[in-house]
Amino acid sequence: MLRKTLVLLMVAGLLVGFSGMAEVERDPDLQGTLEIVNWWTAGGEAEALAALFSVFSEWHPRVSVINSTIAGGAGIGARAVLISRILGGVPPGTFQVHAGRGTIDPHVIPGHMEPVTFLYEEEGWVDVFPQALLDMLRFEGEFWSVPVNIHRSNVLWYNKGVFAEHGLNPPTTFAEFFAAAEVLQTAGVIPLALGETWTVVHLFETVLLAALGPDAYIGLWNGDTDWGAPEVTAALEYFDRMLNYVNQDFAALSWDEAAGLVVDGTAAMNIMGDWAHGYFMGRGWTPGVDYGWVPVPGSGGAFQALSDSFGLPKGAPDRHVVVAWLRMIGSREGQDAFNPIKGSIPARVDADRTLYDAYLLSAMDDFARDAIVPSMMHGAAASPAWMHDIIEAVSFFAADRDVVVLQRALVNAAADAL
Ligand code: GAL
Repeated sequence: MLRKTLVLLMVAGLLVGFSGMAEVERDPDLQGTLEIVNWWTAGGEAEALAALFSVFSEWHPRVSVINSTIAGGAGIGARAVLISRILGGVPPGTFQVHAGRGTIDPHVIPGHMEPVTFLYEEEGWVDVFPQALLDMLRFEGEFWSVPVNIHRSNVLWYNKGVFAEHGLNPPTTFAEFFAAAEVLQTAGVIPLALGETWTVVHLFETVLLAALGPDAYIGLWNGDTDWGAPEVTAALEYFDRMLNYVNQDFAALSWDEAAGLVVDGTAAMNIMGDWAHGYFMGRGWTPGVDYGWVPVPGSGGAFQALSDSFGLPKGAPDRHVVVAWLRMIGSREGQDAFNPIKGSIPARVDADRTLYDAYLLSAMDDFARDAIVPSMMHGAAASPAWMHDIIEAVSFFAADRDVVVLQRALVNAAADAL
């Protein structure tokens, strides 16, 4: 009897909880137009965004949504368009922006964004977003955007069939990586699929982490690690050696085209953030069957993190619908609709784990256990000007392969930035 009463009380509590939430979050009468600028055009990304739209239109069926996509992974194309729109006084309702120093600065410092700290307070987000993420999002005491996910950048993906065919195990150290790469190259398989410039820089940052370890890697961004140190030279040499095993046409491929080489078996491995997981699933691949994953060799125990978030520009058209969007993407329902498709883990720690596959569960566990370090290429570690200098230095290096010149450029870039 007592048990029955308790169960009834719990059910009633849940119902009150849900209906209370529904009153706050859902509004069938809300009207307006919401323009969302983002760069999610590739397989996996576009489907995940569509899942967010369907939750939003269920909550607010009378709001029209304009999906303004600007192609270019890592926001390479979107950022420039966005800055010119914001500075030109025609901001969209909201836009995708990385959490952290690389993208918050240009929007906040010139005073073009509204802080959204009020939403964190009203929605209780400081209790459900992890501290490491809150630290990335906070700038001058305020929060400036709402995170929808956490991605991991230091992942090596591999084609299980190709690995089995050549009797290989996934590499966990640089030595194992180079040994496997030799076997594959000799057999006529591209060992490591690579794409356009930003993906080269992505590879580069994961190698820096793997070679230096999490503490010294973090030190690169706060001045504690000297970019001219012999340890950094050693990391650059690993990077240089890795480039011996990539497809020659890398500069011409987008990140998803490079990942596609692994799907068709032309290449065996790809080092990419876990949006590649979303892409592979979109291609009909089954995780753990068709493809496997390990941290980038040498980087086990470290989680190189970044987060996609959305902001509220000053003067946003139909501000009230933007606020409704931001509440939805920060909600459990929104995040649980988006992340299992996107290949990212939710920003919230209270997600419904039953909705996530083996890769994402392992990523959630790693995030809780590993050293969390920021991704530079995806906006979490360095200012935009510093990022620009690093991207330039690495892209020259991909052509001339001169480690001394690269290290000198990196030292100069750090001296300008710090
Ligand atoms: C990252 C972004 C991810 C993914 C990727 C490739 O910068 O955070 O969500 O979309 O670019 O486009």
